[in-house]
Amino acid sequence: MNKEPLQESIKKEKAARKKAERLLKDKGEELLLSNKKLQKNNRNLKFKNEALGLLVSLINFAHTKNTDITQTLKCYLEEVCKFCKWPLGHIYFVQRSLKNNNETKLTPGNIWYGRSQEKFKNFIEQTMKTEFQADDGIPGSVMKTNKPVWLDHAFDEGSFLRQQEGRKLDMIGAYAVPLFVFGEIYAIAEFFADDSSKKKKHYLEFAISAAAQVSTIIERLLSEDRVKSKNKELQNALNELKQIQLQLVQTSKMASLGQLAAGIAHEINNPISYLENNLRILGKYVNYYKGVRKKRQLFFDKIIDFLPAEIAKEKSEYDTDSEKINYLLSDIEALISESLEGVQRVTEIVLSLKSFARLDEAEYKIVNINECVESTIKVIWNELKYKCELKKELSPNIPSIKCNPGQINQVIMNILVNASQAIEGKGLITIKTLQSNSEVCILISDTGSGISEENIHAIFEPFFTTKPVGIGTGLGLSVSYGIIQKHGGKIEVHSELGLGTTFEIFLPITRINDVPSIKVNES
Ligand SMILES: Nc1ncnc2c1ncn2[C@@H]1O[C@H](COP(=O)(O)OP(=O)(O)OP(=O)(O)O)[C@@H](O)[C@H]1O
Ligand SMILES: [Mg+2]
Repeated sequence: MNKEPLQESIKKEKAARKKAERLLKDKGEELLLSNKKLQKNNRNLKFKNEALGLLVSLINFAHTKNTDITQTLKCYLEEVCKFCKWPLGHIYFVQRSLKNNNETKLTPGNIWYGRSQEKFKNFIEQTMKTEFQADDGIPGSVMKTNKPVWLDHAFDEGSFLRQQEGRKLDMIGAYAVPLFVFGEIYAIAEFFADDSSKKKKHYLEFAISAAAQVSTIIERLLSEDRVKSKNKELQNALNELKQIQLQLVQTSKMASLGQLAAGIAHEINNPISYLENNLRILGKYVNYYKGVRKKRQLFFDKIIDFLPAEIAKEKSEYDTDSEKINYLLSDIEALISESLEGVQRVTEIVLSLKSFARLDEAEYKIVNINECVESTIKVIWNELKYKCELKKELSPNIPSIKCNPGQINQVIMNILVNASQAIEGKGLITIKTLQSNSEVCILISDTGSGISEENIHAIFEPFFTTKPVGIGTGLGLSVSYGIIQKHGGKIEVHSELGLGTTFEIFLPITRINDVPSIKVNES
């Protein structure tokens, strides 16, 4: 056997094995490396998964609960601190000057996460006292650069308020993240770590991406708030408009009713005055005729005995007629007097209508309203005393005001008469005066029947009455309304059916106190 080829083939065999071994070793190392990579990726994936879970729970928190900005920020601090194993987190808010949007400062918000509130008590207290300007401290440098800041040894250098306390708590690293809302820095979240190795890239990334989510949530909450407050503003404006519309309707109604009243008053005035004149003249004629008849009767009585018997016989017939005429005459007198009373009543109504229409030229004086109240009470006391107890609470401090005292008396009287008419049996009327800002107020309350919802809108309209014919004309309050309006004041009513009614009169104070107050006794 040839030795040469055998050795050659062994050599080849060895070389091939070595190569195979090297290849195996390389493959083994490659496998180990990719295994390590796989493990690392796995860990990263687990981490990211966990971070994603926390972000989802943060978003859910903001959406599912009826949350606000403070709660959202608290939740953010808590999630970040728990995930990164940082013991403390806190929020600073950016305050912008109203004059200049670029003038800012950072004020501590009372929004915290602390692993142990007791342990961090002093540190929190000191933080709450600290405000930062841009470029000042950790939050300040975030404010200036708009970027997150990490300090490995935050409490080592310099001298600042929280330094000693930070060291005592073994805090080492500090991290601050900006929260942007509508494109501007809104707040800064500041975190502290008790181990600088906790500055891991994915921790910082998590805090940043959670901050981005929180920013979106805050933008939503702020937009909702803005929409809500705009809605509220719109609702208020609508209510105000409705109120103005009601007032306008009321004013224009009163104005046209005033014109109508003025027209009626004018038209009635003339016929009523010649009716009155004619009735009085008719009365005089009747009187005259009665005198003539009396004289004639006396004359007949004197001559009766001298008349021939057949003429004197007819006397009894004349006597019967004469009695009838006497009866007619006295009836005519009664009819005239009743008609005159009616005319008088119509005249009063015309006067009230004129007053409602503000046609009368009134005289204004400086008067203390208490005097108006006292004098009016005197005039109608007889009507009130059997119906009610009257309680007076007149403020001695109210200033005198410029008004037409006769007309103010008329208003007080109308309201007092209404109050007494609303009381069945015995009740209480309270009359108060007081000053409220730049107005003098007269409040008149009664314990009467009250006014129904349905009627309360109509009571100031002329001729609105719930009283029987002959008792109420329905002019009292409409006239009073006109008088108070003419004085630049207002009259309001509050009533509860079955409990009673309060009228409130407000009259503006004009500062002419150097004119002496006059005694009012005009009612
Ligand atoms: N204090 C009150 N309590 C209950 N109802 C009232 C009161 N004041 C006014 N009213 C109601 O308002 C209506 C209008 O009052 P207003 O004084 O204008 O007319 P009136 O009293 O009916 O008649 P007038 O005053 O012309 O004699 C009254 O008929 C009554 O229904
Ligand atoms: Mg009345």
